[in-house]
Amino acid sequence: MVDKDDQFLHKSSEIKEAALWIKNGDVIAFPTETVYGLGANALDEEAIQNIFQAKGRPSDNPLIVHIAKEEQLKELVIDVPLVAKKLIHAFWPGPLTIILKRTNSIAESVTAGLDTVGVRMPSHPIALTLIEAADVPIAAPSANQSGKPSPTSASHVIHDLNGKIAGVVDGGVTGVGVESTVVDCSVDRVILYRPGGVTKEEIEAVIGPIEVDPSLQAETEAPRSPGMKYTHYAPIGQLYVVSDCGKINNYVQEARAKGHRVGVLTTEERKAKYDADIVVACGKRDDLSTVAQKLYDSLRTFDQQKAEIIYAEAFPKEGIGIAIMNRLEKAADAVI
Ligand code: TXA
Ligand code: MG
Repeated sequence: MVDKDDQFLHKSSEIKEAALWIKNGDVIAFPTETVYGLGANALDEEAIQNIFQAKGRPSDNPLIVHIAKEEQLKELVIDVPLVAKKLIHAFWPGPLTIILKRTNSIAESVTAGLDTVGVRMPSHPIALTLIEAADVPIAAPSANQSGKPSPTSASHVIHDLNGKIAGVVDGGVTGVGVESTVVDCSVDRVILYRPGGVTKEEIEAVIGPIEVDPSLQAETEAPRSPGMKYTHYAPIGQLYVVSDCGKINNYVQEARAKGHRVGVLTTEERKAKYDADIVVACGKRDDLSTVAQKLYDSLRTFDQQKAEIIYAEAFPKEGIGIAIMNRLEKAADAVI
């Protein structure tokens, strides 16, 4: 932890100090098991404004509130339906955000005017200790500049937000790598808004079949979760997700012939097949959780290496592959 005037934020285990900053209305980035979050006191309107400002986040996109103990729910939500209780029991602490009807104690802008709030209990020990020490619920979006890939290391946070936030608690590289799954339990049916660290299959094993927000399947539908309508996770270069990986080398050749600096996003198994300017092996295809873990770092690598055009292999849309493809498709200029 270092203060705002310091140019370089560095590694620290001084979680208590970070908690004090949060109590005082500042914003602090911290690791969770999914990605780094940019946290502020969820009950303090001014502190929440600092989050939106630091990230450049549109004000109609609500934040997730992070808690360390189930009792904290009482202050935040009116009611916890049985189905939500089952999910909490099965997946908290962990990468599942549950949307419930909110109370009025939460700062207005956390929920962007909605009558619901998304709550999750992260499993990362630093996150849990920080929330307990701050002794307030912590609202936290991913700690990236709005539109950029989410941060999975403290250096990603520093790259995007240095000088704009009070500090970052460095907990190394995050484990899951993609954000939490978001489900709405504020209505009669449970609806999946964002695929993430907990898979649909895992949820359905606990509570039976759930609905999927139609916008996740068809671009034409307006999403019911505000954040899902924005461009996200995008590298600077043009990104194309390629369904038929056999065609990637042809695309690369064509683009290079036009003078572009070209990258390929692949996995360990296939990296030797490609002849491009930048080839990034993003985990192992035979274990998609490793792809999820490295996805955002891989997208950021293309920025560092100044890729102008990137071709990404598509992944199977099952298990965590659904979250991976959701992020890739949102980051992409097109799926070809
Ligand atoms: O893993 C995560 O969820 C990370 C870590 C830091 O916890 N956080 C995260 O926050 O990804 P953020 O702000 O980048 O994404 C929150 C998503 C957005 O798509 C937002 O629209 C949706 O959750 N959301 C939050 N509250 C909502 C609500 N009341 N109704 C519908 N969608 C909501
Ligand atoms: Mg985000």
